[in-house]
Amino acid sequence: MRVLGIETSCDETAAAVLEAPLQVCSHVVASQIASHGPYGGVVPELACREHVKALPVVLAQAIAESGGNWSAIDAVAVTYGPGLAGALLTGVSAAQALHACLGVPLIAVNHLHGHLYSPFLASNAPAPETMYPFLSLIVSGGHTCLVYVAGPRAYRLLGTTVDDAAGEAFDKGANLLGLGYPGGHRIDALAKDGDATFVRFPRGTVKAGSQLTGDLDVRCCFSFSGVKTALRYYLADHPLMAGESRQLADVAASYQEAIVDALVRRVAYTLDQVKVKALAVGGGVSLNGRLRMALQDLCVQRGLPLLLTPPRFCGDNAAMIAAVAELGAGREVADVSQLDVDPSPEVLF
Ligand code: KG4
Ligand code: ZN
Repeated sequence: MRVLGIETSCDETAAAVLEAPLQVCSHVVASQIASHGPYGGVVPELACREHVKALPVVLAQAIAESGGNWSAIDAVAVTYGPGLAGALLTGVSAAQALHACLGVPLIAVNHLHGHLYSPFLASNAPAPETMYPFLSLIVSGGHTCLVYVAGPRAYRLLGTTVDDAAGEAFDKGANLLGLGYPGGHRIDALAKDGDATFVRFPRGTVKAGSQLTGDLDVRCCFSFSGVKTALRYYLADHPLMAGESRQLADVAASYQEAIVDALVRRVAYTLDQVKVKALAVGGGVSLNGRLRMALQDLCVQRGLPLLLTPPRFCGDNAAMIAAVAELGAGREVADVSQLDVDPSPEVLF
């Protein structure tokens, strides 16, 4: 079965063709970072316009590079949420049109389910069915959550953030450090030469009784707004000196350490609560070198396989959306004309 995946939930226009079982035939991502950068964040209206412009090109390229043609496509999979409503609509409309033209099933995929399965896109990854149940850490610009994955569409949310996502914390910190948007990768690069013990920033514990966490164990939950505020106060008291690259690297490394340590502590605690066969990690922040290393250390200590997403599938992409469909974990849409987007920021499990 050949699935064409389409992803437009935020600021990446992506299309990919996958051949079962999880073989990536093509994978195209058009990033809008250059358009949003000057505004310091994603501008929804701009994102929609950019998707509309990029989609025909990205789709044609995905088919051209797949080694097949349109007639080889057996199903179309599309992200219906969560994300920006207008941005999601561009992908869903394209998928509806392709369904009508090609006469193939349309499969609606939850974006977060894509991140859950992205580690299995590695060419040397085990088959997902041999790894259930696993614990998944999704860390991106929009989401930070811990999910117990018992099987396709059998997910239990164990932890989430009560305020900023980990990627937002990186981006807001990078902004305060004058590194531009998005800045996670810049903090990562600077931190390699910095002293992570230079400043101790807070690790953001979540207080019990928070309405946002519902029945969740708050020790599995995250809070990143405090670390950003702590950095702001620190910089007010210790302004960065022009040309002082040592100071910048030390502060960046300390800031990164606070975020990574907060993530790893919650993962460690959660692993004490559930019995799983592996830890899987995906999302843009999982590109972070320090996070990858710290999770590696944790998994070695626990004797647990670590399934890291290959770098090219960490950020938003359509291969992970097609993967969900191939694994039978999407939702085949019965009445395609009625397919709607669901931009809700709630985790849809
Ligand atoms: O998964 P993604 O492309 O978008 C969302 O679905 O939100 O993730 C983007 C996020 C941004 O916040 C970016 O700063 C962060 O991932 N990021 C990193 C690194 N590379 C990207 N954060 C820390 N270290 C990195 N190397
Ligand atoms: Zn994402």
